[in-house]
Amino acid sequence: MRLDDIDLSDIEGFWTLPMADREAAFATLRREDPIRFFAEADFGEYIPAGPGYWAVTRHADVVEASRHPEWFCSGEGTNIPDLPPEFREFFGSMISLDDPRHARLRRIVSAGFTPRMVQRLEAEVERTSAEILDHLADRGECDFVTEVAARLPLVIICEMMGIDPDLHDEVFHMSNIVLSQGDPEYIDEGTEPLAALLGAGAGLAEIMNRTADERRGGDGEDLTSVLVNAEVDGERLTPEELASFFVLLCVAGNETTRNAITWGLVELTANPEQRRRWLADIDGVTPGAVEEIVRMSSPVIHFRRTVTTDGVVLGDHEFSAGDKVVLWYNSANRDEAVFDDPDRFDVTRDPNPHIGFGGPGPHFCLGAHLARREISVLYRHLLSRYPDIHATAEPDRLRANFVNGVKHLPCAFSAA
Ligand code: HEM
Repeated sequence: MRLDDIDLSDIEGFWTLPMADREAAFATLRREDPIRFFAEADFGEYIPAGPGYWAVTRHADVVEASRHPEWFCSGEGTNIPDLPPEFREFFGSMISLDDPRHARLRRIVSAGFTPRMVQRLEAEVERTSAEILDHLADRGECDFVTEVAARLPLVIICEMMGIDPDLHDEVFHMSNIVLSQGDPEYIDEGTEPLAALLGAGAGLAEIMNRTADERRGGDGEDLTSVLVNAEVDGERLTPEELASFFVLLCVAGNETTRNAITWGLVELTANPEQRRRWLADIDGVTPGAVEEIVRMSSPVIHFRRTVTTDGVVLGDHEFSAGDKVVLWYNSANRDEAVFDDPDRFDVTRDPNPHIGFGGPGPHFCLGAHLARREISVLYRHLLSRYPDIHATAEPDRLRANFVNGVKHLPCAFSAA
């Protein structure tokens, strides 16, 4: 694709291209115009087209911008369009705040990620992975997304927050809507996508508020109990902060991890020699293979920053205050200046300085350790029990440019 034909705002056109074409277009951007201006899409009356954004596509520049929140801030929004005020109640958690408010929230919620909590979750990851794969026995085929990849992160987030198991499916349905970017599979016919988004945010907040009320004053060990009952430096999350944190966890923790797991199977299917290498030493290869899956799939495609002051320089570009800057993690993760043969899936790639969990800086993924654990444990079980599992069709991709989503992936397998 020629540089002038690339339009990163064109969801129906550019973002439905085959993956190889899409990544080739990013290679063109890195080579010919690594910080390029794009007009914004118009999302109608609630979110009219904004002033446009600068697309940052080289690894070094994405890292540099992430490292300097004082020049590239998150508090003006981390999605490309500015969200209208009514959305901020549910979608305005710490990911879209700057210090000191961001640091305060991160300090409070991090207090929940204690070694005891992590240990509890790790046992749950083992148990749930084994249980999910038990269900496949004697089946021979299934939809890998809905029956395998999506189940694990959902159960883990809900367990972590102490959500009633009867509500897990509802949480799943609503987090799908939040990240669907209007994909018709997740939006009821006749419903305006933005109304569906707002409704899903409100629904998740409602579940969290109910759960918090039940846990208040108790001695539960789930994160909700910890957050409503404990104080950190004399501070506690407000009910609104707790609800929007839960919405963030649902979308950040569910959709991302499930897509990493799914793309892993796509890569294994396309690269039998990498499967052989992994099978030959499952325990030894798994940690590196997990990093390579996250690099290749880049489950979060971009986040936005806003320039805080005139004269900020990145690469050879000088910005003005208020400029929107979009960090394309998928592109950074295939930058040939950093990765040899970047389009090759290599489970033993070393070093692998990918930035799939974000660049270095205050917003680095809070769930990176948990996500790595989930992907590792699931693949360890999967490859031991169903070593020939493979996709039987192309991934049915989400029509979106924010999460690299797969809606369905038929697969087949025989028992080990
Ligand atoms: C493969 C899976 C995952 C990927 C690729 C991923 C990716 C990311 C990225 C790129 C960011 C940086 C945002 C920024 O710089 O603006 C981020 C932040 C975050 N992630 Fe993840 N994530 C994953 C799994 C998880 C899980 C499992 C959880 C929760 C249990 C989680 C919770 C969060 C939170 C709370 C933040 C915001 C941190 C802050 O603003 O300080 N993520 N994630």
